[in-house]
Amino acid sequence: MTAAATAPAPAARVRLPVLPGDAAVIDRAEPAPHQLIDGFARRVTYLRVSLTDRCNYRCTYCMPDDGSHEVTPHEDVASASELGAIIAAFAATGVTRVRLTGGEPTLRRDLPDIVARVVAIPGITDVALSTNGERLLELAGPLRRAGLHRLNISIDTLDPVRFRAITRRGNLARVLAGTELCSSLGFRAIKLNAVALRGFNHDELPALTSWAWERGITPRFIEQMPMAGGRLFVPGEFLPAAEVRAILAAGLGAPGEQLQILRADDDPGSHRGGGPARYYLLPSRNDDTRVGIISPVTESFCDDCNRVRIDSAGRMHACLAFDDAVDLRSAVQAGTNAEDLGRAIAHALGDKRRGHEFTTLGCGAPKKAMIATGG
Ligand code: 5AD
Ligand code: SF4
Repeated sequence: MTAAATAPAPAARVRLPVLPGDAAVIDRAEPAPHQLIDGFARRVTYLRVSLTDRCNYRCTYCMPDDGSHEVTPHEDVASASELGAIIAAFAATGVTRVRLTGGEPTLRRDLPDIVARVVAIPGITDVALSTNGERLLELAGPLRRAGLHRLNISIDTLDPVRFRAITRRGNLARVLAGTELCSSLGFRAIKLNAVALRGFNHDELPALTSWAWERGITPRFIEQMPMAGGRLFVPGEFLPAAEVRAILAAGLGAPGEQLQILRADDDPGSHRGGGPARYYLLPSRNDDTRVGIISPVTESFCDDCNRVRIDSAGRMHACLAFDDAVDLRSAVQAGTNAEDLGRAIAHALGDKRRGHEFTTLGCGAPKKAMIATGG
Protein backbone atom coordinates (compact mmCIF):
# COMPACT_ATOMS: atom_id res chain seq x y z
CA MET A 1 0.00 0.00 0.00
CA THR A 2 1.35 3.42 -0.94
CA ALA A 3 1.18 6.05 1.78
CA ALA A 4 -1.13 8.95 1.05
CA ALA A 5 -0.28 12.33 2.51
CA THR A 6 -1.92 15.52 3.56
CA ALA A 7 -0.29 18.90 2.95
CA PRO A 8 -1.24 22.41 4.08
CA ALA A 9 -3.69 24.09 1.74
CA PRO A 10 -3.39 27.71 0.67
CA ALA A 11 -6.37 29.86 1.68
CA ALA A 12 -8.39 30.33 -1.50
CA ARG A 13 -11.58 32.08 -2.38
CA VAL A 14 -14.03 30.49 -4.73
CA ARG A 15 -15.68 32.56 -7.46
CA LEU A 16 -18.42 31.04 -9.55
CA PRO A 17 -21.03 32.53 -11.88
CA VAL A 18 -24.01 33.91 -9.97
CA LEU A 19 -27.32 32.25 -10.71
CA PRO A 20 -30.65 32.58 -8.92
CA GLY A 21 -30.50 30.56 -5.74
CA ASP A 22 -26.71 30.34 -5.68
CA ALA A 23 -26.07 33.09 -3.16
CA ALA A 24 -25.28 30.60 -0.41
CA VAL A 25 -22.45 28.89 -2.28
CA ILE A 26 -20.47 31.63 -3.96
CA ASP A 27 -17.51 33.53 -2.65
CA ARG A 28 -17.02 31.26 0.29
CA ALA A 29 -13.58 30.83 1.80
CA GLU A 30 -12.37 27.24 1.48
CA PRO A 31 -11.94 25.98 5.01
CA ALA A 32 -9.77 22.94 4.22
CA PRO A 33 -6.83 22.87 6.61
CA HIS A 34 -5.30 19.90 4.77
CA GLN A 35 -5.38 18.50 1.29
CA LEU A 36 -5.78 14.88 0.23
CA ILE A 37 -2.85 13.85 -1.93
CA ASP A 38 -2.37 10.29 -3.18
CA GLY A 39 0.81 8.26 -3.60
CA PHE A 40 1.31 9.68 -7.11
CA ALA A 41 1.04 13.36 -6.07
CA ARG A 42 -2.52 13.71 -7.36
CA ARG A 43 -4.77 15.94 -5.26
CA VAL A 44 -8.33 14.79 -4.60
CA THR A 45 -10.88 17.59 -4.93
CA TYR A 46 -13.85 15.75 -6.40
CA LEU A 47 -16.08 13.13 -4.80
CA ARG A 48 -18.61 10.96 -6.61
CA VAL A 49 -21.26 9.57 -4.30
CA SER A 50 -23.50 6.69 -5.37
CA LEU A 51 -26.88 6.99 -3.65
CA THR A 52 -28.18 3.59 -4.76
CA ASP A 53 -27.05 0.64 -6.84
CA ARG A 54 -30.60 0.12 -8.13
CA CYS A 55 -31.88 1.49 -11.41
CA ASN A 56 -35.16 1.76 -13.28
CA TYR A 57 -33.21 1.09 -16.52
CA ARG A 58 -31.00 -1.86 -17.50
CA CYS A 59 -28.50 -0.35 -19.93
CA THR A 60 -26.76 -3.17 -21.74
CA TYR A 61 -23.20 -1.87 -21.05
CA CYS A 62 -23.91 -1.09 -17.39
CA MET A 63 -25.71 -3.99 -15.77
CA PRO A 64 -26.66 -7.56 -16.56
CA ASP A 65 -30.37 -8.25 -17.09
CA ASP A 66 -30.22 -11.86 -15.93
CA GLY A 67 -30.77 -11.21 -12.22
CA SER A 68 -27.07 -11.68 -11.41
CA HIS A 69 -26.67 -8.07 -10.23
CA GLU A 70 -26.98 -8.21 -6.44
CA VAL A 71 -28.31 -4.98 -5.00
CA THR A 72 -27.31 -3.66 -1.60
CA PRO A 73 -30.02 -4.49 0.98
CA HIS A 74 -31.92 -1.39 2.13
CA GLU A 75 -30.55 -1.63 5.68
CA ASP A 76 -26.99 -1.43 4.35
CA VAL A 77 -27.57 1.71 2.28
CA ALA A 78 -26.02 4.83 3.80
CA SER A 79 -28.61 7.31 5.07
CA ALA A 80 -28.70 11.00 4.14
CA SER A 81 -27.13 11.94 7.47
CA GLU A 82 -24.39 9.28 7.22
CA LEU A 83 -23.58 10.48 3.72
CA GLY A 84 -23.56 14.06 5.00
CA ALA A 85 -20.98 13.13 7.66
CA ILE A 86 -18.80 11.31 5.12
CA ILE A 87 -18.95 14.19 2.60
CA ALA A 88 -18.22 16.76 5.32
CA ALA A 89 -15.07 14.81 6.22
CA PHE A 90 -13.99 14.96 2.58
CA ALA A 91 -14.76 18.68 2.45
CA ALA A 92 -12.45 19.17 5.42
CA THR A 93 -9.64 17.62 3.34
CA GLY A 94 -10.11 19.94 0.38
CA VAL A 95 -12.86 18.28 -1.69
CA THR A 96 -14.93 21.10 -3.21
CA ARG A 97 -17.09 19.32 -5.78
CA VAL A 98 -19.56 16.49 -5.29
CA ARG A 99 -21.46 14.47 -7.87
CA LEU A 100 -24.45 12.39 -6.80
CA THR A 101 -24.77 9.29 -8.91
CA GLY A 102 -26.01 5.72 -8.82
CA GLY A 103 -27.35 3.36 -10.11
CA GLU A 104 -30.08 5.89 -10.62
CA PRO A 105 -29.99 8.52 -7.84
CA THR A 106 -33.52 9.80 -8.55
CA LEU A 107 -34.84 6.52 -7.11
CA ARG A 108 -33.93 7.86 -3.64
CA ARG A 109 -37.04 9.55 -2.24
CA ASP A 110 -34.83 11.74 -0.07
CA LEU A 111 -32.81 13.07 -3.04
CA PRO A 112 -33.80 16.76 -2.67
CA ASP A 113 -32.97 16.52 1.05
CA ILE A 114 -29.57 14.98 0.25
CA VAL A 115 -28.86 17.74 -2.29
CA ALA A 116 -29.78 20.44 0.22
CA ARG A 117 -27.52 18.84 2.86
CA VAL A 118 -24.56 18.60 0.52
CA VAL A 119 -24.99 22.17 -0.76
CA ALA A 120 -24.90 23.36 2.87
CA ILE A 121 -21.59 21.64 3.73
CA PRO A 122 -18.88 24.30 4.19
CA GLY A 123 -16.28 24.05 1.45
CA ILE A 124 -18.53 22.30 -1.08
CA THR A 125 -19.04 24.79 -3.90
CA ASP A 126 -20.42 22.61 -6.66
CA VAL A 127 -23.05 19.87 -6.45
CA ALA A 128 -23.99 17.87 -9.53
CA LEU A 129 -26.26 14.95 -10.35
CA SER A 130 -25.88 12.18 -12.96
CA THR A 131 -29.22 10.75 -14.03
CA ASN A 132 -30.90 8.76 -16.76
CA GLY A 133 -33.53 11.52 -16.89
CA GLU A 134 -36.57 9.27 -16.48
CA ARG A 135 -37.80 11.17 -13.39
CA LEU A 136 -36.73 14.70 -14.25
CA LEU A 137 -40.20 15.92 -15.19
CA GLU A 138 -41.21 15.48 -11.53
CA LEU A 139 -37.88 16.27 -9.90
CA ALA A 140 -36.25 19.11 -11.85
CA GLY A 141 -38.03 21.86 -9.87
CA PRO A 142 -37.44 20.34 -6.39
CA LEU A 143 -33.78 19.69 -7.26
CA ARG A 144 -33.20 23.24 -8.46
CA ARG A 145 -34.91 24.59 -5.32
CA ALA A 146 -32.72 22.32 -3.18
CA GLY A 147 -29.71 24.11 -4.68
CA LEU A 148 -28.43 21.58 -7.24
CA HIS A 149 -25.92 23.28 -9.57
CA ARG A 150 -25.30 20.87 -12.44
CA LEU A 151 -26.85 17.92 -14.21
CA ASN A 152 -25.48 15.20 -16.49
CA ILE A 153 -28.21 13.36 -18.34
CA SER A 154 -27.51 10.10 -20.18
CA ILE A 155 -29.05 10.00 -23.66
CA ASP A 156 -27.40 7.49 -25.99
CA THR A 157 -29.78 7.89 -28.93
CA LEU A 158 -32.65 10.05 -30.20
CA ASP A 159 -34.40 7.05 -31.73
CA PRO A 160 -37.14 5.65 -29.42
CA VAL A 161 -36.67 2.08 -30.67
CA ARG A 162 -32.90 2.18 -30.12
CA PHE A 163 -33.42 3.88 -26.75
CA ARG A 164 -35.69 1.07 -25.63
CA ALA A 165 -33.17 -1.50 -26.84
CA ILE A 166 -30.15 -0.02 -25.04
CA THR A 167 -31.95 0.83 -21.77
CA ARG A 168 -34.27 -2.23 -21.90
CA ARG A 169 -36.83 -0.06 -20.07
CA GLY A 170 -36.56 3.61 -20.93
CA ASN A 171 -39.06 6.11 -22.25
CA LEU A 172 -37.20 8.51 -24.55
CA ALA A 173 -40.02 11.07 -24.80
CA ARG A 174 -40.05 11.51 -21.00
CA VAL A 175 -36.28 11.86 -20.86
CA LEU A 176 -36.17 14.46 -23.64
CA ALA A 177 -39.04 16.44 -22.08
CA GLY A 178 -37.38 16.29 -18.65
CA THR A 179 -34.08 17.45 -20.14
CA GLU A 180 -35.76 20.38 -21.90
CA LEU A 181 -37.48 21.35 -18.66
CA CYS A 182 -34.10 21.38 -16.90
CA SER A 183 -32.57 23.55 -19.61
CA SER A 184 -35.15 26.24 -18.74
CA LEU A 185 -34.47 26.23 -14.99
CA GLY A 186 -31.13 28.04 -14.78
CA PHE A 187 -28.79 25.24 -13.70
CA ARG A 188 -25.10 26.21 -13.94
CA ALA A 189 -24.53 23.62 -16.67
CA ILE A 190 -26.26 20.63 -18.21
CA LYS A 191 -24.38 17.92 -20.08
CA LEU A 192 -25.70 15.16 -22.25
CA ASN A 193 -23.67 11.94 -21.86
CA ALA A 194 -23.70 9.23 -24.50
CA VAL A 195 -21.64 6.06 -24.60
CA ALA A 196 -20.38 5.88 -28.21
CA LEU A 197 -20.98 2.42 -29.67
CA ARG A 198 -20.19 1.19 -33.15
CA GLY A 199 -23.20 -0.40 -34.76
CA PHE A 200 -25.55 1.27 -32.28
CA ASN A 201 -25.28 5.07 -32.29
CA HIS A 202 -22.14 5.88 -34.34
CA ASP A 203 -24.38 7.33 -37.05
CA GLU A 204 -26.17 9.58 -34.54
CA LEU A 205 -23.26 11.39 -32.91
CA PRO A 206 -23.71 14.60 -34.98
CA ALA A 207 -27.50 14.58 -34.43
CA LEU A 208 -27.08 14.13 -30.66
CA THR A 209 -24.57 16.97 -30.66
CA SER A 210 -26.89 19.33 -32.57
CA TRP A 211 -29.83 18.40 -30.34
CA ALA A 212 -27.80 19.32 -27.26
CA TRP A 213 -26.29 22.51 -28.73
CA GLU A 214 -29.74 23.78 -29.72
CA ARG A 215 -30.73 23.62 -26.06
CA GLY A 216 -27.59 25.13 -24.54
CA ILE A 217 -26.44 21.67 -23.39
CA THR A 218 -22.88 20.37 -23.79
CA PRO A 219 -22.76 16.91 -25.40
CA ARG A 220 -20.11 14.37 -24.35
CA PHE A 221 -19.25 11.03 -25.87
CA ILE A 222 -17.76 8.30 -23.71
CA GLU A 223 -15.65 5.31 -24.72
CA GLN A 224 -17.14 2.10 -23.41
CA MET A 225 -15.24 0.77 -20.40
CA PRO A 226 -15.06 -2.93 -19.60
CA MET A 227 -16.60 -3.37 -16.15
CA ALA A 228 -18.25 -6.42 -14.49
CA GLY A 229 -15.30 -8.67 -15.37
CA GLY A 230 -15.72 -7.70 -19.03
CA ARG A 231 -19.01 -9.66 -19.25
CA LEU A 232 -21.00 -6.77 -20.72
CA PHE A 233 -18.35 -5.59 -23.15
CA VAL A 234 -18.82 -6.31 -26.85
CA PRO A 235 -15.40 -5.66 -28.47
CA GLY A 236 -16.81 -4.98 -31.97
CA GLU A 237 -18.87 -2.15 -30.49
CA PHE A 238 -15.92 -0.26 -29.10
CA LEU A 239 -15.59 3.15 -30.77
CA PRO A 240 -12.28 4.95 -30.07
CA ALA A 241 -12.16 8.69 -29.43
CA ALA A 242 -10.22 9.37 -32.65
CA GLU A 243 -13.10 7.89 -34.62
CA VAL A 244 -15.67 9.84 -32.63
CA ARG A 245 -13.80 13.03 -33.53
CA ALA A 246 -13.72 12.09 -37.22
CA ILE A 247 -17.46 11.30 -37.25
CA LEU A 248 -18.29 14.62 -35.56
CA ALA A 249 -16.06 16.68 -37.85
CA ALA A 250 -17.48 15.00 -40.97
CA GLY A 251 -21.08 15.46 -39.78
CA LEU A 252 -20.87 18.98 -38.37
CA GLY A 253 -17.82 20.76 -39.78
CA ALA A 254 -16.93 22.50 -43.02
CA PRO A 255 -15.45 20.19 -45.72
CA GLY A 256 -12.11 18.78 -44.50
CA GLU A 257 -12.40 20.48 -41.10
CA GLN A 258 -11.04 18.80 -37.94
CA LEU A 259 -12.17 19.27 -34.35
CA GLN A 260 -9.82 21.56 -32.47
CA ILE A 261 -8.98 20.72 -28.87
CA LEU A 262 -9.76 23.41 -26.34
CA ARG A 263 -6.98 24.09 -23.85
CA ALA A 264 -8.08 24.88 -20.32
CA ASP A 265 -6.57 28.37 -20.67
CA ASP A 266 -8.79 29.13 -23.66
CA ASP A 267 -11.97 28.39 -21.79
CA PRO A 268 -12.36 29.72 -18.28
CA GLY A 269 -16.15 29.33 -18.63
CA SER A 270 -18.55 26.60 -17.65
CA HIS A 271 -17.69 24.10 -20.39
CA ARG A 272 -14.67 22.75 -18.51
CA GLY A 273 -15.74 20.35 -15.83
CA GLY A 274 -12.35 19.88 -14.17
CA GLY A 275 -12.84 16.22 -15.05
CA PRO A 276 -11.68 13.66 -17.56
CA ALA A 277 -13.51 15.05 -20.61
CA ARG A 278 -11.46 16.84 -23.22
CA TYR A 279 -13.42 19.57 -24.98
CA TYR A 280 -13.31 20.41 -28.68
CA LEU A 281 -14.74 23.05 -30.98
CA LEU A 282 -15.21 23.45 -34.69
CA PRO A 283 -13.37 26.61 -35.81
CA SER A 284 -15.90 27.20 -38.60
CA ARG A 285 -18.68 27.58 -36.04
CA ASN A 286 -18.45 31.08 -34.77
CA ASP A 287 -20.28 30.42 -31.55
CA ASP A 288 -19.93 29.07 -28.07
CA THR A 289 -20.51 25.40 -28.85
CA ARG A 290 -18.24 22.66 -27.50
CA VAL A 291 -18.28 18.90 -27.51
CA GLY A 292 -16.62 16.73 -24.88
CA ILE A 293 -14.99 13.37 -25.39
CA ILE A 294 -14.18 11.03 -22.51
CA SER A 295 -11.62 8.51 -23.68
CA PRO A 296 -10.47 6.45 -20.70
CA VAL A 297 -9.35 3.52 -22.83
CA THR A 298 -7.43 4.97 -25.81
CA GLU A 299 -6.30 8.28 -24.24
CA SER A 300 -6.09 7.54 -20.54
CA PHE A 301 -6.40 10.49 -18.18
CA CYS A 302 -5.41 8.65 -14.99
CA ASP A 303 -2.36 10.88 -14.47
CA ASP A 304 -4.71 13.81 -13.82
CA CYS A 305 -7.24 11.90 -11.74
CA ASN A 306 -8.69 14.13 -9.01
CA ARG A 307 -11.51 11.95 -7.71
CA VAL A 308 -12.57 9.12 -5.45
CA ARG A 309 -15.93 7.40 -5.12
CA ILE A 310 -18.31 6.42 -2.34
CA ASP A 311 -20.70 3.55 -3.02
CA SER A 312 -24.24 3.37 -1.69
CA ALA A 313 -23.11 1.38 1.37
CA GLY A 314 -20.69 4.16 2.31
CA ARG A 315 -17.50 2.41 1.13
CA MET A 316 -14.75 4.46 -0.45
CA HIS A 317 -13.43 3.24 -3.81
CA ALA A 318 -10.14 4.96 -4.56
CA CYS A 319 -10.37 3.84 -8.20
CA LEU A 320 -13.23 3.09 -10.59
CA ALA A 321 -11.25 0.34 -12.23
CA PHE A 322 -10.31 -1.77 -9.17
CA ASP A 323 -12.36 -3.52 -6.53
CA ASP A 324 -10.60 -2.26 -3.38
CA ALA A 325 -13.05 -0.49 -1.08
CA VAL A 326 -12.86 0.79 2.50
CA ASP A 327 -15.93 1.00 4.75
CA LEU A 328 -16.44 4.57 6.00
CA ARG A 329 -20.08 4.21 7.06
CA SER A 330 -19.20 1.95 10.01
CA ALA A 331 -16.76 4.58 11.23
CA VAL A 332 -19.51 7.21 11.07
CA GLN A 333 -21.92 4.88 12.87
CA ALA A 334 -19.32 4.29 15.59
CA GLY A 335 -19.20 8.05 16.19
CA THR A 336 -15.67 8.55 14.83
CA ASN A 337 -14.81 12.24 14.94
CA ALA A 338 -14.21 14.22 11.73
CA GLU A 339 -10.45 14.30 12.20
CA ASP A 340 -10.15 10.52 12.58
CA LEU A 341 -12.50 10.03 9.65
CA GLY A 342 -10.17 12.26 7.63
CA ARG A 343 -7.29 10.00 8.67
CA ALA A 344 -9.23 6.88 7.56
CA ILE A 345 -9.86 8.55 4.21
CA ALA A 346 -6.18 9.45 3.74
CA HIS A 347 -5.28 5.84 4.59
CA ALA A 348 -7.81 4.45 2.08
CA LEU A 349 -6.35 6.76 -0.54
CA GLY A 350 -3.18 4.69 -0.28
CA ASP A 351 -5.03 2.07 -2.37
CA LYS A 352 -5.36 4.44 -5.32
CA ARG A 353 -3.56 2.92 -8.30
CA ARG A 354 -1.52 4.78 -10.84
CA GLY A 355 -4.02 3.91 -13.60
CA HIS A 356 -6.49 1.39 -14.93
CA GLU A 357 -5.68 -1.61 -17.12
CA PHE A 358 -8.62 -1.39 -19.56
CA THR A 359 -8.02 -2.48 -23.14
CA THR A 360 -10.03 -1.96 -26.32
CA LEU A 361 -10.73 -5.71 -26.32
CA GLY A 362 -12.49 -5.55 -22.98
CA CYS A 363 -9.70 -6.82 -20.69
CA GLY A 364 -8.62 -5.22 -17.43
CA ALA A 365 -12.09 -4.95 -15.95
CA PRO A 366 -12.79 -4.93 -12.22
CA LYS A 367 -15.38 -7.39 -10.87
CA LYS A 368 -17.79 -4.59 -9.97
CA ALA A 369 -20.34 -3.39 -12.52
CA MET A 370 -20.66 0.28 -13.44
CA ILE A 371 -24.01 0.35 -11.67
CA ALA A 372 -22.24 -0.17 -8.32
CA THR A 373 -20.47 3.19 -8.33
CA GLY A 374 -21.62 5.21 -11.35
CA GLY A 375 -19.33 6.18 -14.24
N1 5AD B 1 -18.57 2.51 -20.10
C1 5AD B 1 -18.68 3.85 -20.24
N2 5AD B 1 -19.68 4.57 -19.70
C2 5AD B 1 -20.62 3.89 -19.00
N3 5AD B 1 -21.72 4.32 -18.35
C3 5AD B 1 -22.32 3.26 -17.78
N4 5AD B 1 -21.62 2.12 -18.05
C4 5AD B 1 -20.56 2.50 -18.82
C5 5AD B 1 -19.48 1.79 -19.41
N5 5AD B 1 -19.34 0.48 -19.27
C6 5AD B 1 -22.13 5.72 -18.33
C7 5AD B 1 -23.60 5.93 -18.45
C8 5AD B 1 -23.76 7.29 -17.89
C9 5AD B 1 -22.62 7.46 -16.93
C10 5AD B 1 -23.06 7.55 -15.52
O1 5AD B 1 -21.81 6.30 -17.11
O2 5AD B 1 -24.07 5.91 -19.76
O3 5AD B 1 -23.70 8.29 -18.88
FE1 SF4 C 1 -29.19 2.76 -15.00
FE2 SF4 C 1 -27.41 4.58 -15.77
FE3 SF4 C 1 -26.68 2.03 -15.61
FE4 SF4 C 1 -28.38 2.80 -17.50
S1 SF4 C 1 -26.21 3.46 -17.26
S2 SF4 C 1 -28.63 0.97 -16.17
S3 SF4 C 1 -29.54 4.36 -16.52
S4 SF4 C 1 -27.28 3.30 -13.91
